[in-house]
Amino acid sequence: MFSDNKKTSSKFDIIPEHIGIIMDGNGRWAKKRGLPRKAGHTAGAMTFRKIARYASDIGVKYLTVYAFSTENWNRPEDEVSALMKLFKQYLEEAIRDFSEENMRIKFLGDISGFSSDLRELIETIEKNSADRTGMTLNLAMNYGGRNEILSACRKIAEAAVNGDIKPEEITEKMIADNLYTATQPDPDLIIRPSGEKRISNFMLWQAAYSEFVYLNILWPDFEPKHLDEAIEEFAKRNRRFGGV
Ligand code: IPE
Ligand code: IPE
Ligand code: MG
Repeated sequence: MFSDNKKTSSKFDIIPEHIGIIMDGNGRWAKKRGLPRKAGHTAGAMTFRKIARYASDIGVKYLTVYAFSTENWNRPEDEVSALMKLFKQYLEEAIRDFSEENMRIKFLGDISGFSSDLRELIETIEKNSADRTGMTLNLAMNYGGRNEILSACRKIAEAAVNGDIKPEEITEKMIADNLYTATQPDPDLIIRPSGEKRISNFMLWQAAYSEFVYLNILWPDFEPKHLDEAIEEFAKRNRRFGGV
């Protein structure tokens, strides 16, 4: 779990194996242009598609994008419904498009919070892409780090109540194995555009030793060169994992 996951690729000397992106700043991008917030989300969705392809091309093995948090339901109803519409449209397109890309798509989050047609799309995409061997693209939707840890606790507590394990037998690995990211490495690098410098409930457990790069750019304006910039910054970091 705490290995130094730096892999080599042709373009970079060092490339993070797992990158997380908090796709933030859509609303401000729209506001700057006098457009409704949902126009920012549409632009952000296009950026997402471009960056996912680029990450896969440069050899990233796992890309996790934060698309909708457990707290984002608190937004005005018309914004939430515009986002749900956009997700549906994108997931339908993903069934077609990402099939050529050899990407494995996984959803992180509580999908029971979505409508039945969205849930069906999610299940189809996960099933269709499960055997692919390229980059794993994690879509964090209705995702919250606290909620993820809470549901892991519930599963482990149930095993304890049933007498399958004793409380003192609970390990960190057992918790990690009950998160949405079970079997995946922790993110090496987490990028947050938009200028905000906070984690906003993203991968709270997995980010214990992630490197953070904050960029002063709104997500719809994010380009492949910004990912390059973040990777170059990551390559300069000295990860110590508590050692010397
Ligand atoms: C990120 O952009 C997208 C979601 C959270 C769904 P925002 O909508 O948070 O954009 P800002 O932060 O208001 O600019
Ligand atoms: C984090 O952004 C969630 C996503 C990008 C999906 P928010 O815009 O919701 O975070 P806060 O409210 O600024 O912390
Ligand atoms: Mg925001």
